Amino acid sequence: MILALAGTKGAPGTTTAAFGLAAATAAQGQPAIFVEADPDGGEAALRLGISRHPGLASLATVGRHGLSPEMLRGAAQALGEGLGVVVAPSAPHQVRACLDQLGPSFSAALSELAERSGALVVIDGGRWRQDAAVLGPAPEIVVVSPTLEGVDGAAGRLAGVDAAHRPRWLLVVGEGPHDPPELADHLGLELLGALGSDGAGAEALWAGRGEPRALRSPLGRGLRQITDRLSAPPTANLDADEPSRDLGAQPTREPARS
Ligand SMILES: Nc1ncnc2c1ncn2[C@@H]1O[C@H](COP(=O)(O)OP(=O)(O)O)[C@@H](O)[C@H]1O
Ligand SMILES: [Mg+2]
Repeated sequence: MILALAGTKGAPGTTTAAFGLAAATAAQGQPAIFVEADPDGGEAALRLGISRHPGLASLATVGRHGLSPEMLRGAAQALGEGLGVVVAPSAPHQVRACLDQLGPSFSAALSELAERSGALVVIDGGRWRQDAAVLGPAPEIVVVSPTLEGVDGAAGRLAGVDAAHRPRWLLVVGEGPHDPPELADHLGLELLGALGSDGAGAEALWAGRGEPRALRSPLGRGLRQITDRLSAPPTANLDADEPSRDLGAQPTREPARS
């Protein structure tokens, strides 16, 4: 499965949530690859203290005449058991050049890699923009801050897209007066989860390079709950509080772009 995350106005935490979801997935035993594709520039290499090569830039070079899942694998640096990262250059113009060069086949190659390897591919799409080609028609997950500004920004952004281009899931990050389930209702999205404010947890996640012990924080717990939901059988009702095993008779859902 591939999952692209994109943030809306006033919502910090998109990159951390995307990396954290990949890390929590790997910690649960399913391979995961975090792909940094924020047109405003990459930060993951710096935060993780790793080289920018290989990464998105080397991938754009080798993949300029066509991408294969093997090339993607070659662009991913292994962090820990089952966790790989494809890091982006820090300069926005360089990331944009890479994404232009990779073109629309990038998303297709990521899907193929996910399908063939059984890995979850999590894409950090940065801010959700009209022209964000790497996200395909829409990100699967939109990150929203539960503040006045955040809700207003998300509602405005969603108002500008047609039904086919709406994200499926809402991920609430940070603290604010808006209750996540009500916010999901208001925006007409399915609530994937809510990650409260946990700056120390975010720092620990990056400093610990996403290893399982780096997930022992409130943020890590929230991330693990989300990956549990994502890895629940597709028959599960994600909005229910009941354990998914009790919901085996529900109609199946289409998985997100997989
Ligand atoms: N849930 C959170 N609670 C508190 N601080 C966070 C959280 N997620 C991220 N941060 C911190 O906020 C800053 C921006 O996070 P980042 O994930 O890069 O946001 P974005 O990608 O939206 O710019 C970083 O310093 C990060 O450690
Ligand atoms: Mg970011």
